[in-house]
Formats: sequence, structure tokens, C-alpha cells
Amino acid sequence: MRRDLFAMPPGIYMDGNSLGVMPHAAREAVLRRLDDWQHDSVHGWDKWFGLAESLSPGVARLVGALPHEVMATGSITSNLHSLMATLYHPQPGDTRRHLVATSLDFPSDVYAMQSWADMHGAELRLIPSRDGQTLTTEDILATLTDDVAVVLLPTVLYRSGQLLDIPGLTAEAQARGILIGWDAAHSVGSVPHDLHGSGADFAVWCHYKYVNAGPGAPGGLFLHERHHGRMPALRGWWGHDKTSQFEMAHNFRPAAGAGGYQLGTPPVLALAGLEGALEVFATVEMEDIRTRSLALTDHLIALADAHLPELKMVTPRDHAVRGGHVALAHPDALALSVALRERGIIPDFRQPDILRLAPVALYTTEAEIEETVRVLRDLLDTGSYKAAREVGLVT
Ligand SMILES: Cc1ncc(COP(=O)(O)O)c(C=O)c1O
Repeated sequence: MRRDLFAMPPGIYMDGNSLGVMPHAAREAVLRRLDDWQHDSVHGWDKWFGLAESLSPGVARLVGALPHEVMATGSITSNLHSLMATLYHPQPGDTRRHLVATSLDFPSDVYAMQSWADMHGAELRLIPSRDGQTLTTEDILATLTDDVAVVLLPTVLYRSGQLLDIPGLTAEAQARGILIGWDAAHSVGSVPHDLHGSGADFAVWCHYKYVNAGPGAPGGLFLHERHHGRMPALRGWWGHDKTSQFEMAHNFRPAAGAGGYQLGTPPVLALAGLEGALEVFATVEMEDIRTRSLALTDHLIALADAHLPELKMVTPRDHAVRGGHVALAHPDALALSVALRERGIIPDFRQPDILRLAPVALYTTEAEIEETVRVLRDLLDTGSYKAAREVGLVT
């Protein structure tokens, strides 16, 4: 628990799975970079050039990768496009050409994967869900047929919080000759990873959720070193070999490893948020974060079982398949979410009926979980949530 390292907002914050709380170090790092800008103007680039690369060891530690296999850049969506452009290029007549994602994916992943299927005249197949909330290994494996070229899976499903078996499914896909990528948005910073050891081909994630790097912070990409050395299909000058980037030659020489997948000038102020956020993670072990995260979600689940029978527990109870947040279904989940906010507790709502609560290992207390459940019980007993005001755009 490192609550002292965070500038906690007023009330009870249960939405760290959407936007993490600001670490003091992130604010200080951004202010430092603003000072650089003020005092050094363009000479600031002497400090900022290579900033993203300097963050790779810290980022790699979060995802269990080698530093040259990761890069803080882009967004989940742009990184997914960039990696797909390089890894997916079926030739006319190839039978192994189709793509697989899941019916429970975050929409941007499906949009991106559908773009690539369309560009190559292939199908995007979506793994079905039997209960509308979770996926079974059986259904995932049934889609991994010998005409599939690439499968993209979420590590943790953004609605239900189900954690998939990353090493097991990676091995299964690869045994079938299928490239496998992971969207790790909802696990990085909450669940330990071993992307390199599992042999995953690629992964994409953001740093604005459990990593607490700030709204719109640069995302992360992982490309296993077995895929290094090839020419990135989408190129830009920031992916050029750093030692000769400013020679401004027109023949592109990619930086070795994941750095070659950068495109344009990095957002220095936004990278500074990540720079500060990583200082927090340098003080903790991911295993300890996971232990506390599971203890907190256990506590929340037990209290919800005891006091909130009207809410259906959607998140799997088994530790092995549970991520960092708890999802509860209720027909009035939106009104409950708004009413909680009016009482100073910040959860979030996901269509059509899911209330998500994320007790975050680094900063949420047991007492905050207990108070959240108590207020929910009160809202249900009094029915006062039905009078809750309409919400803003982001629920
Ligand atoms: C699971 C998941 N995938 C993809 C995205 C899209 O990320 P980005 O906007 O960084 O491209 C999000 C955004 O919250 C997400 O939660």
C-alpha cells in the first residue's frame, strides 16, 4: 500500500481501472519537464531525446519483458495497427489469413482488427460468450483453426474482469501456428506478467489505468525479440536508429527492437507523467500488488455477497481468473453509479448493466470498500438512487 505516494481525490475513488489516481511523482515529473521547456526551450531536447527509451526498463518490469522488447508510445489502437501492419501480411491464395478477436472486446480493438481483415479480404471472427460476460477456454480454442493467422485476446476483460490464461493460451495458439497478441490494458500495473517468458508475439496496453501515468498517457507495446530485425511496415522518423536520426537521411534504418515502432515526436509532457508513475512502481513488487489486489477484491466480493444480494456478481471468484476490478450487474446500474458519485464515491458504469468497482492495491483501503458497500446498501434500501441526476458523457 503506497497511498502516501498519491494525491488522492476527495471522496472514495473506485475507478482506477479507468483512470488511475495521480502520483505526486507524476505531477513533479510533469512540472520538471515544464521547467525544462521554460528555461531550456528547444535545447530541452538534449534532455528529452531518448526519454521514452529511458523508461523502457521500468515499463518492461511491469509486463515481464526485456527492455528492448517494449516501448512507451502511441495508444493501444495505434500500436495495434502498427504491429498488425508488420506481422500480418497474408499473400493472395494463403489459406491461413483470417483474424480472431472476442465478442467481449473493447470496441477499438474490434475496429482495428476489422480494418486489417478488410484490407486483406479476410474474416474477423469473434469468439462468442455463453453468458455475455466471460469466455471459456473451450470456445477460445475452438476458434483457433488452421486458417487463422493472428488472434488478439484481452488479458483481463474490461467489463467482467475475467483474467485469461496468458501463458496457456499463448502456447495453444502457437502450437497451431497462429500469431498471438494481447490487449493488456486491464492487467498492466495490477497483475504480474511474463510476456517474454510466455513467448507472446506482441502486446499493447495503456498506462492511464493501473499505472497511473495520467489521462491520455502514451501507451505501451511489446514485440517479442524473435520478431526483431524486420522492417516495421509503418515507419516514422522517431523509430529511426537513434544514433543517426538527425542525419535526416531518406533511407529509414529502424531502431533495434520495439523502439523502431515509434512514429512521430513523442509527447514529452505526457511521457513525464509516465516517468513519475514508474517511480512509484520502482518501490513495489508486482507480486505484492497482486496479493493485495486479490485480498481487496476478495473483501469486496464477500461484502457484496453478504449485503448486496440484488447485485449479480459478474467477476469470476477464482483468483486464477480474476483481474483487478469487480463487476456487479443490476438493471439500474447506471442510476446506482450516478447516485454513488453524488455520495462522493466514484465507480463506473459499462453498458448495459454493469457497475465496476476497482479497489486498487496501491491506494484503496479496506475501510473505503466497506463504506462503498454500506452506501450501496443504503441506496438500495431507500430507493434514493432512482432520483439520481443524468450523467455526463463518460460514465
Ligand atoms: C481494453 C481496452 N482496449 C483498448 C482501449 C483503447 O485504448 P486507446 O484509447 O489507448 O487506444 C481501451 C481504452 O480504455 C481499453 O480499455
